[in-house]
Amino acid sequence: MSDFETLSVSLGDRSYDMVSGPDVISNAGKLVAPVIDHEPVIVITDDNVSKHHLENFSASLQSAGISSTVITLPAGENTKGYDGFRNLVNAILDTGPERRSTLIALGGGVIGDITGFAASVILRGIHFIQVPTTLLAQVDSSVGGKTGINTRHGKNLVGSFYQPRLVLADTGVLDTLPRRELLAGYAEVAKYGLLGDKGFFEWLEKNGKAVIEGDMAIRQQAVMTSCRAKADIVSRDEKEAGDRALLNLGHTFGHALEAETGFSDRLLHGEAVAIGMMMAFDLSVQMGICPAEDATRVRTHLQSIGLPIQPTDVAGQAWQSTSLIGHMAQDKKVQNGKITFILTHGIGDAFITSDVDIDDVETMLDRAIAA
Ligand SMILES: NC(=O)c1ccc[n+]([C@@H]2O[C@H](COP(=O)([O-])OP(=O)(O)OC[C@H]3O[C@@H](n4cnc5c(N)ncnc54)[C@H](O)[C@@H]3O)[C@@H](O)[C@H]2O)c1
Ligand SMILES: [Zn+2]
Repeated sequence: MSDFETLSVSLGDRSYDMVSGPDVISNAGKLVAPVIDHEPVIVITDDNVSKHHLENFSASLQSAGISSTVITLPAGENTKGYDGFRNLVNAILDTGPERRSTLIALGGGVIGDITGFAASVILRGIHFIQVPTTLLAQVDSSVGGKTGINTRHGKNLVGSFYQPRLVLADTGVLDTLPRRELLAGYAEVAKYGLLGDKGFFEWLEKNGKAVIEGDMAIRQQAVMTSCRAKADIVSRDEKEAGDRALLNLGHTFGHALEAETGFSDRLLHGEAVAIGMMMAFDLSVQMGICPAEDATRVRTHLQSIGLPIQPTDVAGQAWQSTSLIGHMAQDKKVQNGKITFILTHGIGDAFITSDVDIDDVETMLDRAIAA
């Protein structure tokens, strides 16, 4: 297990390790054994991930002498609603869990979010472990303890802060991930450079393509650097009272774009974040607080990776700045009626503000829509 790297997420008695490496899944049994108090463990996965990785994962539990039951959910965001949640909770209760039981989420952010939420409420809280299998889940959703489900009022409106006991990020499993999903996850990787680490962004300018093409050492470095950045912020501000909001760079705009496309696969979350980050840079340039060359550099990089950078990159969608602003005003980050924005003084220098003139936002959006 010498190729593995470990990072500690410091949250007092709820601290946990995140382990990353190219073949973590084959060693999962040994890695989870120290944090398991009761068997069988209950593995939750989806029907895409199970095809590629369940056999290997279950075999590694078995070889460590850990018994397991598996619950397989349909793949896709639709699973993360009330119906999917009720089915999952019933299926877990059918197995007769105890307080010391452990749920293991083997999948992307959908499986991680719904499993974490189930773990937080079943028997008022049972243990859970994240085994993220998408790049997005490895660098973002699996670390930090936000769990939840979607309702007809919006995404992730019902949930909890509930930390896992361990995160296992196998960089090799990303080889089976559809390329478009991989690119979407990359937007969140770039986000860490853009919000607070210019050196990392410069590293990505050189190595970003290798992350996508599957150079394992480079990929692992990208995952670990991203998670370290997230862990630092989460340790300082677990419940998003302040700094943690920086992680929403590109997300206020991104969520509005997603809402407008009906949260469909015409625009994946990470793609919306890429366009949203560009909007944050463009608005900052327009407001005279960020050098124009920084925005150009970000645009060049995201485009070279193959990410969309403007609304017009989304095929067959008509956009209106007023309806996008309408979505932003409904975001759960609105406070006292004011929209919170993450803007930037340049690459690696983002900040949180609600002091933005909405006319400036409209001008930026109108330009982006016309681009
Ligand atoms: N909790 C948080 O902090 C947080 C942060 C960001 C996003 N999220 C949530 O995460 C979700 C999105 O996560 P996601 O992008 O991982 O989506 P996802 O879980 O739907 O996975 C994307 C697709 O890839 C498939 N897949 C997953 N791993 C695979 C693999 N290794 N090989 C082949 N196919 C694979 C899945 O079956 C699915 O079809 C959203 O619901 C979002 O709200 C949560
Ligand atoms: Zn995101």
